[in-house]
Amino acid sequence: MRMYDLIMKKRNGGTLTKEEINYMVSEYTADKIPDYQMSAMMMAIYFRGMTKEETVALTMAMAHSGDMMDLGAIQGVKVDKHSTGGVGDKTSIALTPMVAACGVKIAKMSGRGLGHTGGTIDKLESFAGFSTGITADHFLRQVNEIGISIMGQTLDIAPADKKLYALRDVTATVDNMSLIASSIMSKKLASGADAIVLDVKTGSGAFMKEEKNAFALAREMAAIGNSAGRKTIAVVSDMDQPLGRAVGNALEVQEAIATLKGEGPADFTELCMTLGSYMLIAGGRAKDKKEAEEMLTAVIADGSALDKLAAFVRAQGGDPAAVYDPALLPKASIVEEIPAPQAGFVQKIDCEEIGICSLILGGGRETKDSEIDLSVGLILHKKTGDAVAQGESLASIYANDQEKLDMAKERFLKAYHITKENAKRQPLIRGTVPE
Ligand code: URA
Repeated sequence: MRMYDLIMKKRNGGTLTKEEINYMVSEYTADKIPDYQMSAMMMAIYFRGMTKEETVALTMAMAHSGDMMDLGAIQGVKVDKHSTGGVGDKTSIALTPMVAACGVKIAKMSGRGLGHTGGTIDKLESFAGFSTGITADHFLRQVNEIGISIMGQTLDIAPADKKLYALRDVTATVDNMSLIASSIMSKKLASGADAIVLDVKTGSGAFMKEEKNAFALAREMAAIGNSAGRKTIAVVSDMDQPLGRAVGNALEVQEAIATLKGEGPADFTELCMTLGSYMLIAGGRAKDKKEAEEMLTAVIADGSALDKLAAFVRAQGGDPAAVYDPALLPKASIVEEIPAPQAGFVQKIDCEEIGICSLILGGGRETKDSEIDLSVGLILHKKTGDAVAQGESLASIYANDQEKLDMAKERFLKAYHITKENAKRQPLIRGTVPE
């Protein structure tokens, strides 16, 4: 087989066979196919697309390109959750202890973030001493003992995807539906869970700006998961404005803690309840959404979800005291309000811009080696559809550097659109796949 022939076949609109895809992925992972040929292939796929069969073959080839996590040592159904990402998305931090407190095993691998704020691992490091650099043995034992563990990428999970994603990132070939679906699902399949609940975001702060594309991605990923024998459910949810009110690592952890006490923002709580319900159903703990929601409400009310977060933090070397006293989390030295320049209604928020404000403050990574400031970020006091008086605070901004604060503030004001007419609020949950 020759890569040249495969590129030409795809360029001319042909369909690659499973054997051809396996060849291309294994040779590329072994550095036997150069980046320039793979770039040409990615661009050909970008323009010509892939069939369902090709997408499944690419996913499987990438999933098997490195370690396949074996969760067989954990009793019970293991359920994983994945979000396509967005601004203020701290869902895993509140959701996983809620679900674990209801008896579903959470054995999750997570990454650091490149972008507006950190990823789940960075956020969890707001707890002093917390580490996700644990061994596979520790991970499996902890899930059996307390029902929850989140591990960093210490194993070699889907190295083909790691290499390809980095290449796509610099060759303008990220935003292709089949390539995104196979990239995400290869990592999920290699991580070993029996069932997967996906949160596919749509709106100005998401990969998929258009709702119909988010549904198409959700269908594609669910089809891949189910065809690999993993029960997969996808929820399409709003990312046209930040999720909840907190944006920034420690601030988001604080909001997740409040949510575990039943004091979280309505939209974030609704998302946790929805995703959590599907996780309990997929894990065989609840027969329907109503029963699942009752179980989740109960573990919040009796404090067991919060205690589960504390047990999880302690088991991975962190100080659980901050779970009960969030004032112990990292704190910024400067807090300023951002007053509304005029009265009216918040018509629209450029979601990605709010993420960039957090990045400017130091809350995210510009390159993979940047250091993150866990304490900085924003708390939004007004969201889409809210009435606002002139001078009223739109948000509190947390910083450690006045110059960065001023830059972020200027950008923030451009991202908030205040008009005389009231805005139509969009529902947070747009739908599920399968319906
Ligand atoms: N996230 C991934 O892991 N891969 C993509 O291709 C896009 C988002």
